[in-house]
Amino acid sequence: MALLPVPRETNLPGKVVHTPHNVEYRKSSPDELVDLAIEGNIARIAKRCLVGGDESFFVADIGQVIRQHRRWTQNLPGIRPYYAVKCNCDPTFLKVLANLGSNFDCASIEEMRTVLSLGVDPARILFANPCKAPAAIAFAREVGVLRTTFDNIDELDSIKAHMPEAQLLLRVYANDDSAFICLGEKFGAQLDTTEELLSRSWELGLNVIGVSFHVGTGATNTASFCKAIRDARAAFLQAERLGFTPYLLDIGGGFQDDCFETLAPFLRDAIQSEFPAGITTIAEPGRFFARSVYTLVCRVISRRRQLGSAATASIPDMLYQNDGVYGNFMNVIMEKEIMVPHLVGSKKGAVSHKIKTIGESEKPDGHRYSIWGPTCDSTDCAVREVTLDSEVKIGDWLKYKNMGAYTTTTATQFNGFSTVSDF
Ligand SMILES: Cc1ncc(COP(=O)(O)O)c(C=O)c1O
Repeated sequence: MALLPVPRETNLPGKVVHTPHNVEYRKSSPDELVDLAIEGNIARIAKRCLVGGDESFFVADIGQVIRQHRRWTQNLPGIRPYYAVKCNCDPTFLKVLANLGSNFDCASIEEMRTVLSLGVDPARILFANPCKAPAAIAFAREVGVLRTTFDNIDELDSIKAHMPEAQLLLRVYANDDSAFICLGEKFGAQLDTTEELLSRSWELGLNVIGVSFHVGTGATNTASFCKAIRDARAAFLQAERLGFTPYLLDIGGGFQDDCFETLAPFLRDAIQSEFPAGITTIAEPGRFFARSVYTLVCRVISRRRQLGSAATASIPDMLYQNDGVYGNFMNVIMEKEIMVPHLVGSKKGAVSHKIKTIGESEKPDGHRYSIWGPTCDSTDCAVREVTLDSEVKIGDWLKYKNMGAYTTTTATQFNGFSTVSDF
């Protein structure tokens, strides 16, 4: 297929190493395997004295993808995941998901290229972006990705012009105010507009096959999922009244690791009570699959031990590492995530973590630090304050767990600091 060159280098995540899976490691725990991979890679960097050794790297625990997939199928049986590629586009990770039977939510030409280049059938891709450039719609048609979402009249005109045979999902408004990032402000048709949108689709001779929503990424509120399912049902009924035969319900993404088992039964019940048997339900999880798979390992490149009045005022010493908020730590700003570092080689890691304790000594024996990224911007602070059991020096490595979601895919090259290394 001429339209499918290898994905651009810049789309690839930073260096990713994988946990060992030889027979000799069968008895090791996932954490031990991650640590072995970290040690191995650091030794490799040291041995080769690589210039590129000053970039951070990821360790991917592929076993964790399998465990998350099992959790998904046990809790939401029959709801096929369309993994949201925007969350993490590591080709190995995508390949494992594809082999496990996951399909894919792509939002752009580049994401479709990435997934198709792995040999995934275009029928397994949903172009889940309700506001697409005409060129992107034309590309999708050319490569055979026919399922897509819409939420406004003008989009229908673009679709009619560039992919008249599209299989459409009407994205309805949904919002969980507690989500890290609320998407309702940007996307989703309000229920008082859905009838008009569906009528226009009918007039244009387009095919509406279902309804989708997304309550927001990092959602926790069961009620907002249940409301969205009720609203989706209302839109389904409107579509049926107009003559469409909708059969696909897409419950979007937003699923979080720590409340997944609590949320799942409510979702199952809401779908069962609102929708007739026989409809197909799909979802677009991103964070749920990617977050816990990846550990990020950063190197301390500089250190400021406080002197003078700052020392007297007990202001923590400052560590500067080779990755920050313009790289893989953007969630510190976007999602207000509190990052917890562990010193590689230390059994204990962080002993306490506070956001705002400048000047306040919490544990006299500990080593208190703030941790900063490599750029010249003072916004670039990865950890406001942490107390570690051991002293940290230049050249030491810090590891951060659960760094697989919206890290590599949101990283920039600001100040010339790239998160992509070639070693
Ligand atoms: C359309 C769409 N689907 C799926 C996702 C993935 O969401 P999450 O990672 O919260 O599961 C997003 C995230 O922004 C999205 O915009």
